[in-house]
Amino acid sequence: MALVKKDKYNVAIVGATGVVGQTFIKVLEEYKFPVGEVRLLASARSKGKVIHCFNRDIVVDEVNEDAFKGMDISLFSAGGEVSLKWAPIASKYTLVIDNSSAFRMDPKCPLVVPEVNPKDITKEGIIANPNCTTIQSIIPVKALDDKFKVVRINYTSYQAVSGAGMKGINDLKNTRIGEAPQFFPYNISKTVIPHIDTFLDNGYTKEEMKMVNETRKILHKPSLAVSATCVRVPIENSHAVSIAIELEKEFTIDEVRDVLSNYPGIVVKDDPKNNIYPVTDYSNGNDLVYVGRIRKDLSVKNGLLIYCVADNIRKGAAANAVQIAKYLIEEIL
Ligand SMILES: NC(=O)c1ccc[n+]([C@@H]2O[C@H](COP(=O)([O-])OP(=O)(O)OC[C@H]3O[C@@H](n4cnc5c(N)ncnc54)[C@H](OP(=O)(O)O)[C@@H]3O)[C@@H](O)[C@H]2O)c1
Repeated sequence: MALVKKDKYNVAIVGATGVVGQTFIKVLEEYKFPVGEVRLLASARSKGKVIHCFNRDIVVDEVNEDAFKGMDISLFSAGGEVSLKWAPIASKYTLVIDNSSAFRMDPKCPLVVPEVNPKDITKEGIIANPNCTTIQSIIPVKALDDKFKVVRINYTSYQAVSGAGMKGINDLKNTRIGEAPQFFPYNISKTVIPHIDTFLDNGYTKEEMKMVNETRKILHKPSLAVSATCVRVPIENSHAVSIAIELEKEFTIDEVRDVLSNYPGIVVKDDPKNNIYPVTDYSNGNDLVYVGRIRKDLSVKNGLLIYCVADNIRKGAAANAVQIAKYLIEEIL
């Protein structure tokens, strides 16, 4: 059902007990989103659990169709299978913003980062939130594309364990105290792992192909040359991405710094001689993308190298979804 202008919006949160779901609540509160009634939904395991938020105690329910009736917006973060089953049902009653990968490449569903393609936001149906690494990368990429036209991108990610939810966080904690890995294929406390999500026949992982395909969709450039390598690293939160970009137009590093500094959502941290470059200390707990290590790629004409860090649970997931809803109610309705 299409969202209409209101003083307050009733919100259903699916996956409310998870890492992203809890952050939805935190971000909605911090942004003072005009929230009316709130329904917190999860699996049968969490039914009856009480969560205090929005100045009230809310009892978690198992996700069910009636829970979406009377709601205005549904925020989903309970994995692809739950989204595939329940998001179409929720969209009969509410606008849905979905954090899973289930609808990202569906041509009927916009894939949105508000700093990049806000015009794609719709008032109804299912809006997909991109992959966490795509979100933080596409913002500087779009800033550069607007000015210099991007012709080729090669991403290398360094992804925190929180990107794999509670199971990832617990595996880092437990392997640090000597327990055997329960979730990652190797001991994440002792190695980086060049393997996120499952491997495909082309030798890439699903995570890597998400970066390729989502970049093309968000930029509306279906044949843009994009490649990616995604690596899990033993830190708790905030992903980093090293981005090699080939630009059509010539550029100076000062021009690049100027373009990035003036783009919404980006903070440039680039004074390497004084040890100033993007680190997770900057990004954890906020919704900005920190960009630095800005330099020419010595291997190709008009090649540029940049490095960015962002909080994968906030800007990479919950905050981006809430920002989509905020843009919609403030700028479109
Ligand atoms: N972590 C990230 O950086 C990140 C970034 C972007 C997107 N996402 C996406 O967000 C989703 C959740 O990630 P997360 O990190 O928050 O995972 P998580 O911490 O493991 O939380 C999973 C949530 O889904 C619920 N859930 C699981 N099975 C369910 C079912 N059958 N029916 C209803 N609810 C169910 C869980 O409820 P119970 O507590 O009852 O089990 C919990 O609330 C995933 O799709 C993930 O791909 C995550």
